[in-house]
Amino acid sequence: AEDGYRLWLRYDLIKDQAKLNAYKKTVTGFIIDGNSSTLAIASKELDNGLTGLLGSRVPLVKSVRDASVIIARFPSPLLKDINLKTDTKAISEEGYVITTALLNKKNVIVIAAHTDVGLLYGSFHFLRLIQSFHDLNNIDIATSPKIKHRLLNHWDNLDRTVERGYAGFSIWDWHKLPDYIDPRYHDYARANASIGINGTVLTNVNANAQILTEAYLRKVAALADMFRPYGIKVYLTARFSAPVEIGNLKTADPLDPQVRTWWKNKIDEIYKYVPDFGGFVVKANSEGQPGPQNYKRNHADGANMLAEALEAHKGIVMWRAFVYDNEVPEDRVKQAYNEFKPLDGGFKSNVLVQVKNGPLDFQPREPFHPLFGALPKTPIMMEFQITQEYLGFATHLVYLAPLFKECLDSDTYTKGQGSTVAKVIDGSLENHSLTGIAGVANIGNDRNWTGHIFGQANWYAFGRLAWDHNLTSEAIADEWIRMTLTNDDQSVKKLTQMMIASREIVVQYMTPLGLHHIMGWSHHYGPGPWIKDKPRADWTSVYYHQAEANGIGFNRTTTGSNALEQYAQPVRNRFETLEQCPENFLLWFHHVSWDHKMKSGRSLWDELCHTYYKGADSVKWMQNVWETVRPNIDEERFSHVKTFLGIQHKEAEWWRNSCVLYFQSFSKKEIPKGLAKPE
Ligand code: GCU
Repeated sequence: AEDGYRLWLRYDLIKDQAKLNAYKKTVTGFIIDGNSSTLAIASKELDNGLTGLLGSRVPLVKSVRDASVIIARFPSPLLKDINLKTDTKAISEEGYVITTALLNKKNVIVIAAHTDVGLLYGSFHFLRLIQSFHDLNNIDIATSPKIKHRLLNHWDNLDRTVERGYAGFSIWDWHKLPDYIDPRYHDYARANASIGINGTVLTNVNANAQILTEAYLRKVAALADMFRPYGIKVYLTARFSAPVEIGNLKTADPLDPQVRTWWKNKIDEIYKYVPDFGGFVVKANSEGQPGPQNYKRNHADGANMLAEALEAHKGIVMWRAFVYDNEVPEDRVKQAYNEFKPLDGGFKSNVLVQVKNGPLDFQPREPFHPLFGALPKTPIMMEFQITQEYLGFATHLVYLAPLFKECLDSDTYTKGQGSTVAKVIDGSLENHSLTGIAGVANIGNDRNWTGHIFGQANWYAFGRLAWDHNLTSEAIADEWIRMTLTNDDQSVKKLTQMMIASREIVVQYMTPLGLHHIMGWSHHYGPGPWIKDKPRADWTSVYYHQAEANGIGFNRTTTGSNALEQYAQPVRNRFETLEQCPENFLLWFHHVSWDHKMKSGRSLWDELCHTYYKGADSVKWMQNVWETVRPNIDEERFSHVKTFLGIQHKEAEWWRNSCVLYFQSFSKKEIPKGLAKPE
């Protein structure tokens, strides 16, 4: 059945006869120089992929004379008579070349790299070229990842529930590990390798210390052994209080010698099981998690203790900056910066500070986090959320590449114009060689992995942008649609448009004009701007939207919380005045009168209503677009998406009606003419 299990690695027979014939002529046999478990995976993938796409076996050949595709590490003897156009020195360890070349007067395609993993990545890319109907006659690709550590963060618990996971239970079957290796792990690894993801953090940031016990480390080792040939390293989350919980110590104080010894021994033990263990992600002193501040130490003290023990093994610490305390009477979006800014320069060299894209929490739209560019001496890594915690879970179609790009392309101005977030995290702005990017996975044990077929596009887009943040959202959507759904040009065009628009649409029907954090308490599903009486200061109805008789919005200028002071001057200037502030961030930074005149000429109240209506109506437009591609999509996946779009439309109206009616109770103004009455 077309249930989506195969993701974008489908390899169905090419239907377009002209294309099929052209590829069959060019791709007749491939040769791989060398053998390793990684190359065996590449070979099997090419065999399956090419045979599926071309409908007849494309053999692995023994002699270069019979090969039309040559896969080899430089400086392989197979490449000695080939004049490669690319400077191999410009290709990094994981990078690769795919190019046409002449060998004994014959046209061949060369996939070359420094490492076997580079060749595996190149092989997947080569398959992708055919899957997405690229012309193979003039290809000349040389590519290396811009970021070193490209990781998925699984918020998976040991009981297989997944925090903020909407696609079933965890794919890690701890009970059957280490003996039983679910074949699904291989497909997970293939999918990741196909987009260059090279690390997986297996466990929830709200960590359970049990994962560090011997019984679990054996299970972790089995996964690590299995993932290794795919170029994927395994990482874990470390619970800061583990020395107390599983080590029988009285304290977890990071400056206590016994605690330090405990971690050192524990880390040495981990490396006995997993010799290339990647390191730890740590959430400390946030949302009730233990951390160094429990002992009056700071984040650097905590991170450095772990970093010191990991250093000997080349492991890293990814210390999260998602810290806030709802008891502190300070604007929550300011707290991470306040905590971390003074620590710059105080972290060991194998520590990265992992920062969410925005300063609040993965909202449909947030400005970039002010920590980007603010810690020049510290490698900063990005944390995106692929799972749609605040974006309709797995039933809303929201393509996230535009959200990721909006953040990556933002200019922090911390070193003058052009200091984009992307340059902060790829290390180029401050010359850091330790770089990283993480995406909170949307993967579970649903047959289609991500709950929504289009959720697969977000996993895909994350990997592609982690490799190359210069790719456009459109280009990534185009690839994904062609590989996953259809190669019909008209359909690809329409679906690309729909995907690109989908992010703005969700913002419009959930949190337009800079509104944020108005969703349901705790589960975060559906609207809840009215919520009050919750046991947290930042969850009262007035905290974020601050609606009242005169207006709405959070004043973060000098006359308010002054969160703006955490940004560089040009950014501040842009947001500071009502006149200049882009309207999509208006209510994030300003408290604005209901009568404020917007660029459209409407009052703020009217504009707010119109935007909510536009968002909900646009889901109808998405439904229509989907109908038009029906002839080119298989029935199963067509009706899956159709059904979910129906849910999305219903819920977009739920958001619209709830928010408009609730805010109307403050504005006391009419619903603008021409808009249907919300019920
Ligand atoms: C959000 C999310 C939590 C998660 C936290 C984090 O607040 O709702 O479930 O633990 O982010 O990133 O640590």
